[in-house]
Amino acid sequence: MSETARIILEGKEYEFPVIVGTENEKAIDISKLRASTGYITLDFGYKNTGSTKSAITYLDGENGVLRHRGYSIEELADNASFLEVAYLLIYGELPNKEQLEYFETSVCHHTLVHENMKRFFQAFPPNAHPMGMLSSMISSLSTFYPESQNPNRSVVDIERTIHRLIAKLPTLAAQAYKHNMGHPTVYPSNDLGYVGNFLKMMFGLPTANYEVDPVIESALNKLLILHADHEQNCSASTVRIVGSSQANLYSSVSAGIAALWGPLHGGANQAVIEMLESIKEDGGDMEKWIAKAKDKNDSFRLMGFGHRVYKNFDPRARIIKKAADEVLAKLGVNDPVLDLAKRLEEVALKDEYFVQRGLYPNVDFYSGIIYRALGIPTEMFTVMFAIGRLPGWIAQWKEMLENGEPIGRPRQVYTGATERSFVNINDRS
Ligand code: CMC
Repeated sequence: MSETARIILEGKEYEFPVIVGTENEKAIDISKLRASTGYITLDFGYKNTGSTKSAITYLDGENGVLRHRGYSIEELADNASFLEVAYLLIYGELPNKEQLEYFETSVCHHTLVHENMKRFFQAFPPNAHPMGMLSSMISSLSTFYPESQNPNRSVVDIERTIHRLIAKLPTLAAQAYKHNMGHPTVYPSNDLGYVGNFLKMMFGLPTANYEVDPVIESALNKLLILHADHEQNCSASTVRIVGSSQANLYSSVSAGIAALWGPLHGGANQAVIEMLESIKEDGGDMEKWIAKAKDKNDSFRLMGFGHRVYKNFDPRARIIKKAADEVLAKLGVNDPVLDLAKRLEEVALKDEYFVQRGLYPNVDFYSGIIYRALGIPTEMFTVMFAIGRLPGWIAQWKEMLENGEPIGRPRQVYTGATERSFVNINDRS
């Protein structure tokens, strides 16, 4: 017999179905709650609210488990290419050879962006943050492909939009970097892989050959995979909620990029390095900074620590910490900030405040150290996260569409003034 939940309100009992997921996660289905009782639920930050049923990513925060379509993040990071993982997330299965070849070729053929977009870049100030430029550029793609705006678009149109977006985001990301540097644009090369092509557009010159370093390519491939999806996080929920109004994919993802930019989400990777630099410049007194993070009257938080879902460890952080050691050794880079990060982690993990609250290093704590070693400037870190997260956003948007989900529209408990009469300006105190 299937379980039900009983709620007693004003002496009357109501029954609601209990939903159980494939990994035994349980939820009370309250979709008929307001209609039958007149009540709504109140859940700031949606800490206890499931917004959808999803078959993309499974996350067990207590045990540090992360799986995409059933495959563990550890196995994917060790064995797959980023485009293979993108295919898996978006289409539900790992691609066979022909499917992967078709996908890679299709993405390869859409990497160029319209030349008019160069004029958008020219209008930005030289020090414009690349996340601001990226979000604007991705939204503007919808104006070049008006068919993407049709809510009754065909499966073929959706497919083309998806491939275009995967292809063009790295091109626009690299162009944003070139704009900041004041350097000429390097156009995409169809003979390189997804990651190699991005590296060439970032670090190459239009007039010179660019040799992709396999160590850097492989490290970046791994980093992108580790960011590829994370179920209903802030930016994915943003993409789903924007898409639920039938807004086009470009605009939905542009909103996701804006959500990711915040320092409590993807922007934490930039904030971590800035924090570590400040600690270094301040003399490296860990205890002082830990005390600041614990002080409720101080707005400082230990960036790269804590997670809404992981309360034991973040499996991505473990992989990245190991990768950071390997990459720095392979590239012969000696970054004192890595030692500082390790010392800070050690001190924090012994501190009662962090232990009690289940605050551990998250994916952003060590990723910036690898990006630095790869030559990527701090302001581009969150852009790297966005390139990695793109397949996840697309998969979440596509699933929402295929499920025929209703427009996202939360309720509220109104706490403002009750009805009162308008007061003429001369009579106001
Ligand atoms: N430093 C100091 N105290 C913290 C921190 C931190 N980094 N994170 C949480 N706490 C405390 C918080 O003050 C609260 O204490 P109390 O119970 O005494 O009020 C308790 O821990 C629970 O924190 P919360 O803010 O209620 O937890 P949340 O689930 O709302 O927030 C978080 C999660 C990730 C926003 C938060 O841990 C944080 O701000 N971390 C720093 C920013 C960061 O690294 N973000 C990257 C997240 S991982 C990448 C991604 O976005 O996917």
